[in-house]
Amino acid sequence: MCGIVGYVGDKNAYPIIIKGLQRLEYRGYDSAGIALSEGEEITILKQKGKVSDLEDYSSDKNIKGTIGIGHTRWATHGVPNQKNAHPHSSEDNKLAIIHNGIIENYDSIKRMLSNKGHTFISDTDTEVLIHLIEEIKNHENCSLFEAVRLSLNEVIGAYAIVVMEQGNRNEFIAARKGSPLVIGVGKEEYFIASDATPIIEYTRNVVYLEDGEIARVNRKEELEIKTISNIRKNPYIHELEMSLDSIEKGGYPHFMLKEIFEQPNSVLDTLRGRIDPETKEVKLGGLMDYEKKLTNANRIIIVACGTSWHAGLIGEYLFEDLARIPVEVEYASEFRYRNPIIKEDDIVLAISQSGETADTLAALELAKEKGATILGICNVVGSSIARLTDAGVYTHAGPEIGVASTKAFTTQVAVLTLMALKIARLKGSITTSDYHNMIAELELISQQISQVLESEKIIEKIAEKFQNVQNFLYLGRGYNFPVALEGALKLKEISYIHAEGYPAAEMKHGPIALIDEEMPIVVIATKTGNYEKVVSNIQEVKARGGRLIAIVSKGDITVKEIADYTIEIPECSEALSPLLTNIPLQLLSYYIAVLRGCNVDQPRNLAKSVTVE
Ligand code: AGP
Repeated sequence: MCGIVGYVGDKNAYPIIIKGLQRLEYRGYDSAGIALSEGEEITILKQKGKVSDLEDYSSDKNIKGTIGIGHTRWATHGVPNQKNAHPHSSEDNKLAIIHNGIIENYDSIKRMLSNKGHTFISDTDTEVLIHLIEEIKNHENCSLFEAVRLSLNEVIGAYAIVVMEQGNRNEFIAARKGSPLVIGVGKEEYFIASDATPIIEYTRNVVYLEDGEIARVNRKEELEIKTISNIRKNPYIHELEMSLDSIEKGGYPHFMLKEIFEQPNSVLDTLRGRIDPETKEVKLGGLMDYEKKLTNANRIIIVACGTSWHAGLIGEYLFEDLARIPVEVEYASEFRYRNPIIKEDDIVLAISQSGETADTLAALELAKEKGATILGICNVVGSSIARLTDAGVYTHAGPEIGVASTKAFTTQVAVLTLMALKIARLKGSITTSDYHNMIAELELISQQISQVLESEKIIEKIAEKFQNVQNFLYLGRGYNFPVALEGALKLKEISYIHAEGYPAAEMKHGPIALIDEEMPIVVIATKTGNYEKVVSNIQEVKARGGRLIAIVSKGDITVKEIADYTIEIPECSEALSPLLTNIPLQLLSYYIAVLRGCNVDQPRNLAKSVTVE
């Protein structure tokens, strides 16, 4: 979703901000803009479209200045166009603001300001906020820092903002509530961004602004941070562990393909240090203090969105099957609004790649209010969800830039597998030999993912046959039903082909009516769980002329005789199979989307982290 970049120092701000905005392109946006100041004036340049459109537009304009703020906007209030793009200015043009999030009471503030003579150029809530800051600053005759603080006390909603002021080349003011902001600390220079990716090449020292905090970022001084209720805070400097390579394409045509191929290593990173090499016991440092709670839990409620919700469904199978704990998997967006029954002995587990998804965050806050233990599985270190939860496990997948989640999903499933095995072992709900067999398989899973990736060319050929279809059906059973859902989501997201995932046996209750010679059906038919039943389901599809692409276990003969195309994966137990079966589905979506000429890394209308409702 919207991206923020800012710089104050002695360098030319424009190239730093443009590069930063490019690094944030993966978040999804529809317009971009920048504000720079060299002397007295603030220059604002903005354009509908991509950062490259902004660059073209700016090429003959004044782009000088050692302080600047830049923004990529994902439209909420008002269509994507130049006037609604950020930065926005105050009535007297002396202040400029960039904003992520939504000001929910903007309408009443706008009416109040209009009555005082303010006029507005855009349809945005952000312009209202900067006018409010101006009004308070003039009325109270106070500093910008204080005016921002007082204004935010009037505001309902979520925000990450950066405000700069004409004539002050050394300083900007930043604040956050519900939308992340990271400040990079350099030598007499500061960087600011909505995540660390634009900052990493300049400094590893960062301060994560907390919810409800405001920072005065002055290049000549130490950071000054206070809460909106005026309590001083000491900035805590973290050292970033992320590498520059991890946020570049490294020779791949798209981040998505790079991230698909990173999965053997990502999964190794997820497992690293978490299985004792001698005893083979699972060690999850982050959950150590919660082992008893997990073992005694009457119920685990998993809250998540999108792909992370699909990982949660696999978690349900794992926790119920191995650890014998009842699990409910909830769409965070529904859970938060349906007055759910949450008991103090419930464990609410959030799954989120970004750790910033607004619905998941709100669901967790609700669970916390009701007294439940809240745990998290996140990829982004220091993210809002990671900080809100009582405890959790990082996936350690590394930065995921492609909007379509791939390695994040696989590593979430790997973490859920470790958690289920840990609880099962503590509860004694798994036999020692089953436990050791699964651990042995898990230790091999990275190599097996590499073997699955060797089918890339076969999958590319299959994609060629199906690039022009309108619909797709994905079928799976047991642990592979959520994989079917995830396969369908991946195809929809990046190729814009309508796709649906179904439990294979459910097909005869309705979707079978869709099947004709045109309909491609992807079926996960590995030799695990309900293999024979799936074979029968496949026969039903074939009998109606459907075109079958089957994911099968190596050496399978039966399905190969029925299906039009098969993709083999190494044999493994059903509980671990999603870690392998989802990989060919990612590649199939990727190649179909590429052949259709789609923007694979930044699909239309989508944002990488959905920080608004
Ligand atoms: C995945 O391909 C999607 N882009 C999307 O469904 C995503 O998984 C969802 O928005 C949740 O994001 P999170 O994991 O960062 O919370």
